[in-house]
Amino acid sequence: MSKITTARLLAMKQEQQKIAMITAYDASFAALFDKAGVHALLIGDSLGMVLQGESSTLKVTVEDMAYHTRCVANGCEKALIVADLPFMSYSNPEQACSNAASLMRAGAHMVKLEGGAWLAETITQLTRQGIPVCGHLGLTPQSVHVFGGFKLQGRAAEQAAQIKQDAKALEAAGAQLLVLECVPTQLAKDISEQLTIPVIGIGAGPETDGQVLVMQDALGLTSGYVPKFTKNFLAEHGQVQAAIAAYVNDVAEGRFPGPEHSFN
Ligand code: KIV
Ligand code: NA
Repeated sequence: MSKITTARLLAMKQEQQKIAMITAYDASFAALFDKAGVHALLIGDSLGMVLQGESSTLKVTVEDMAYHTRCVANGCEKALIVADLPFMSYSNPEQACSNAASLMRAGAHMVKLEGGAWLAETITQLTRQGIPVCGHLGLTPQSVHVFGGFKLQGRAAEQAAQIKQDAKALEAAGAQLLVLECVPTQLAKDISEQLTIPVIGIGAGPETDGQVLVMQDALGLTSGYVPKFTKNFLAEHGQVQAAIAAYVNDVAEGRFPGPEHSFN
């Protein structure tokens, strides 16, 4: 059983095989998702909301991320492990490298950070020092107070052009994966076509190279507001591993996300 690497994800894009990613925060779920065939596990700073009950991701610390990364790494055998650098932990390249090192030592194979071209130097430094980087554009939740809420990004032409330009800058700086969150389907399609690296969407339509979901959404464990772009896979499958295997399969076959989960 060979491990999923960044090279494997790139080959999947080239072979037009869809990548399925899901968040995980502990060893039990990580093991089930890994067995279900998920290609990448994300220790998202969404844990501030889904585990800690906060209304944003801003209070999450590097220590929180390292703890949950260690838990996930202990349950995972095959999937690529991606860990989020939390709010204000990558304000300059030096700070980013030292915090990313903590996450890599906790078991991550790649770190994710939110933002555009201003991160180019940081991404280059991380990559040079052996830390693969995943970018994150569109709705970047660490900037929720700048956006004035969790809102669709890139609807206006000018904003769409900015996101495209940022995506290219991240790839040029050395990013090996990109998450696009809450953007119109057409914009996500254009960026996926224009970049060599795989683009993973959430609320970005069906035409990206892969999908990511927050596990609580994919298993119907959220109370209150449920985002339009999510689906409860546990509803049709009585067990967690079967539910997530169905997610992987639906992504592979182009059945998820459907138009009802996308912004046009
Ligand atoms: O923190 C998280 O769960 C994420 C995904 C929504 C992409 O960043
Ligand atoms: Na995140």
